[in-house]
Amino acid sequence: MEVQELLTALYSEEGRQDPYPWYAGLHRLGPASAVPPRAEHRTVAAVAVGYDLIDRLLRDPEWTKQPPPGWQDHEILRTFQTSMMFINPPDHTRMRHVFSHAFTPRRLGALKPVILRVVDELLDRMADAGGGVVDFVADFAYPIPALVMAEFIGIPSADLAWYREQVERIDEFLDVAGKTPQRLAAANTAAEELRVFYRGLLAHRRRSPGEDLITGLVEALDAGGVELTEEELISNLIVLFNASFVTTVYMFSNGLPLLLAHPETVAALPGDEELTRGCVDEVLRLESPVHFLARAAPVDTVLEGVPVARDDNVLIIIGAANRDPARFPAPDTFDPTRPGPPSLAFGVGLHFCLGAAVSRLEGCLALPRLFARFPRLAVTESPTYSGSLFLRGIDKLLISTGG
Ligand code: HEM
Repeated sequence: MEVQELLTALYSEEGRQDPYPWYAGLHRLGPASAVPPRAEHRTVAAVAVGYDLIDRLLRDPEWTKQPPPGWQDHEILRTFQTSMMFINPPDHTRMRHVFSHAFTPRRLGALKPVILRVVDELLDRMADAGGGVVDFVADFAYPIPALVMAEFIGIPSADLAWYREQVERIDEFLDVAGKTPQRLAAANTAAEELRVFYRGLLAHRRRSPGEDLITGLVEALDAGGVELTEEELISNLIVLFNASFVTTVYMFSNGLPLLLAHPETVAALPGDEELTRGCVDEVLRLESPVHFLARAAPVDTVLEGVPVARDDNVLIIIGAANRDPARFPAPDTFDPTRPGPPSLAFGVGLHFCLGAAVSRLEGCLALPRLFARFPRLAVTESPTYSGSLFLRGIDKLLISTGG
């Protein structure tokens, strides 16, 4: 099959539910393929799927993130372009430096009791359902990262339901198929409302400080100890919280069916920390929550035989790189003890996920407790995927807790 056909199949309803056969097709064409100039989906010049090639591109600081044209005219794009995730050095370095202090091993250690408390409360609630059917996403996968990160950042839990709606509007726009005027308008409104929300929260924390990230940042900002404007701080908080929970929800929801298909592994998880870490990493490799990234070429160049002009974007499919048969033998097989390179699920290089250790910790603490508490857990209905390839994951997953 040609690249154009493969991409059309990938973006179809069916491809969005199960992209892996099309990724395998792209691998057969080589580590990178040119996207024909008149292709229906040509927002990029080339598509990269090879692990080694992607690893090299992401580590190369010359390959940058490009702002979309006209970004100044839209609140959502202005928010993105003033946050670390979407920009390049030197501004990226300046902003990341401020936030990296929040993710030290000491801070992570302090999160452990928070995670355990949240997980145990959720398990108690699931047990109260009396062996009945519950939605694993609504009752476990979603509230863990949302409650943990809300407490960490300092977002009142009463605002979380409203907050989630705003995040959904933004994530719908972020999908490759999301660039419609309606979705852009909805994302703009969400960004405006979130900015108002954070301005209020910052003012509140100035009046009554807490123990959270916002209090710490506001104090540092007011003392002149942070190289950020208040509006940049707000953009980064929006992007940080956005990045922190839908991804982690999908780590849990994509992982559960995969794990339950391996009952012996599941039975061995409680008490086996090494196996648990292996399972979390293998889930992230096989069912990565983030599939698509993009970078622009610094100069006219040739990628594995594919010419790419300066400033042209390359679509980087980490969800495909994580199943590259050249780096992961039997790439579609779940093997939590597999040796080999780390997956690219958290990216690599300058923009490597700031919260990777937080998500891993959530997974490593929550999964053994879940299976210890409910050894007869079973999925009762086929899962529903988000339909997005930017953030791919299961949005609804009915399970029986097994009494
Ligand atoms: C399983 C869960 C997660 C996955 C799969 C994931 C994935 C990623 C990926 C692939 C990137 C790189 C983006 C790029 O190179 O363009 C990234 C960046 C980022 N992630 Fe995560 N993430 C997860 C959880 C989190 C959490 C829990 C947080 C916050 C606590 C977080 C905050 C961020 C931030 C702030 C960036 C931007 C870093 C930068 O640009 O320097 N993520 N994440």
